[in-house]
Amino acid sequence: METKVAEKIVKKWLRKGNITRCMRDILPCSGLNFDERERVAKLVHNVVRWKRWYEFVLSRYGMEINAENLVKIAAGEIKIDESVGNDLEGMKRIAIRHSFSDFLASFLVAHEDYVEKINREPETSLCVNFNRADREEIMNMLLMEGMDARKGSIPTSIIAEQKARYSEAVKKGYAHVQDESSQLIAMIATMHGDKILDYCAGNGGKTLAMASISKNGKEIHAHDIEPSRLRKLKERAALYKAKVKIGIEGEYDVVLVDAPCTGVGAARRNPEAKYVDGYGDYPSVQREILKEAEKYVKHGGYLIYSICSFLPEEMKAVATLKNFVEEKIDMKWLRRVENGYITWLLEGDILFVSVMKKK
Ligand SMILES: C[S@@+](CC[C@H](N)C(=O)[O-])C[C@H]1O[C@@H](n2cnc3c(N)ncnc32)[C@H](O)[C@@H]1O
Repeated sequence: METKVAEKIVKKWLRKGNITRCMRDILPCSGLNFDERERVAKLVHNVVRWKRWYEFVLSRYGMEINAENLVKIAAGEIKIDESVGNDLEGMKRIAIRHSFSDFLASFLVAHEDYVEKINREPETSLCVNFNRADREEIMNMLLMEGMDARKGSIPTSIIAEQKARYSEAVKKGYAHVQDESSQLIAMIATMHGDKILDYCAGNGGKTLAMASISKNGKEIHAHDIEPSRLRKLKERAALYKAKVKIGIEGEYDVVLVDAPCTGVGAARRNPEAKYVDGYGDYPSVQREILKEAEKYVKHGGYLIYSICSFLPEEMKAVATLKNFVEEKIDMKWLRRVENGYITWLLEGDILFVSVMKKK
């Protein structure tokens, strides 16, 4: 039954793309219970994660490439030899054996350590809400609900099993689901001033983390071009007991621009991003947003640019800022790249962050 549902989802995805939507359309009315649905989601994610490699293996084995066989490989019903594809060379090996678009493989061939990181199956990370409880208390709440939990690598994070996403601790606003690297960006933003504008706040992942880290001790404002996201953020902030104002008022010590991007740095959790085949208009959108946002930074204040990508054209946006100089950050969880840093945490996405000080 589970593999049949997984097959149905994969079949739809092969036709229409957007795996999240395909799962949302099919899983809730599949008749499966919670644990079964979780297992199906895992199976489907593995098909997406390894699609190009699985297809290559099937063709080498002379088998038909279809949803049924892709799911059978992911479920271990078709046994495959792990070394198939290892004989390919350079970019081709990255694209096929490690399953990436040619576009991404052409970058990753010079950055093989990213490959292993992206292909690791992710665990679930939670960001502690320090306005409600401390990390130990929240871990205890999860343990009482029968869920394994351990401390993450940064002070705000808990690594838990997948179903912690639906725990009472999360439902009641003691913690929210958030990748560790995103929590780190929120930490960096709160370190740089007291009046902070989250310019691309979305439904508030980083806004909530900042309110938590600062224990509601900073003036945090949230803005986004999409009013519906801000409405959601407001609801979440109320549950979270997070002090957050919606809208822009004057100038700020810190403006965080968590810009729209290709999302390739989060491909661990959203493996569909492994097949991104170009930049689209992201680089120009990112430059435009920075241009809008920079005017809200006071003199001597900071513009912090973050994206869940490590691709050169997307990291370049900050280089266009004329009145800013880059500020160095010294943290063991970051790796230096041009104009900024990428996050390098065991359970975290690969995000780019640059802190720019206004002259
Ligand atoms: C990567 S998401 C932000 C995620 C959010 N910071 C979080 O941590 O959950 C990018 C956001 O930028 C917003 N956005 C796009 N163009 C914008 C613009 N010109 N001004 C403000 N927000 C914009 C999108 O609506 C989207 O919510």
